[in-house]
Amino acid sequence: MAVLPYKDSSQNKKRQVAQMFDNIAHRYDFLNHLLSFHIDKIWRKNAVRKLQALSPQFILDVATGTGDFALAALRLHPQQITGVDISEGMLGIAKAKIARKQLSHQIGFELADSENLPFPDQQFDAVTVGFGVRNFESLEKGLQEIFRVLRNGGQLVVLEFSKPQKAPFRQIYHFYFRRILPLIGRMISKDPSAYTYLPDSVNAFPDGDNFLHILRQIGFTDCRNYPQTFGIATIYTGIRPAQQNREATQ
Ligand SMILES: C[S@@+](CC[C@H](N)C(=O)[O-])C[C@H]1O[C@@H](n2cnc3c(N)ncnc32)[C@H](O)[C@@H]1O
Repeated sequence: MAVLPYKDSSQNKKRQVAQMFDNIAHRYDFLNHLLSFHIDKIWRKNAVRKLQALSPQFILDVATGTGDFALAALRLHPQQITGVDISEGMLGIAKAKIARKQLSHQIGFELADSENLPFPDQQFDAVTVGFGVRNFESLEKGLQEIFRVLRNGGQLVVLEFSKPQKAPFRQIYHFYFRRILPLIGRMISKDPSAYTYLPDSVNAFPDGDNFLHILRQIGFTDCRNYPQTFGIATIYTGIRPAQQNREATQ
């Protein structure tokens, strides 16, 4: 069953997710860094490093939110980074941040849905998604669209929360994610649901080998995962092969 942010709402997951991120946009960056003890910055940096060898010129950051992954990707010195998101509130913060840093010529943002990307086929050398895939209404549709807009030989990098498997991290993580994080999140964001949706959606997400399996089904090759910080988050990479694997996508 799909995990939704607002249990009493009749809206679909996409509308609810957009509304939730609109609600917490003003506190998102602050809470992100606070609740992760700033480790999220290291994870994004590690994820961007996976693209270094490819040296991508045109990068799409899907579910860009407040633009932190797009900003981290600047270290690759690309010509252009495009960030897309379904939350106007999150994009508003991203645009203000990029304008403040005078980077608007290098990073642009668009209101767009990962499951229906407004770009022609094979437009980008690389696609990044930070803490976004878990929120897609249809994970497969979102990944298929990403595959479509990647050029042959282009690379996908996904950073997403995952479930630590080993004791004692598993227990510590459960206590923190289930008890502490929702409490602080609720107090600061003022959205009572957002930070219970977070652990629920992480729990329901097909992480590790299951996600690699989905990537391969979509048609990605060389799929790898790199657990971060005892497996609290994982970086996944996959390549759109030079010759599209027709069997996988039919
Ligand atoms: C947890 S935030 C991540 C933001 C940013 N990537 C980061 O690393 O902090 C998740 C974002 O995914 C966006 N999102 C969820 N579903 C989406 C979809 N179908 N298309 C585009 N963005 C989506 C949300 O609006 C939200 O801004």
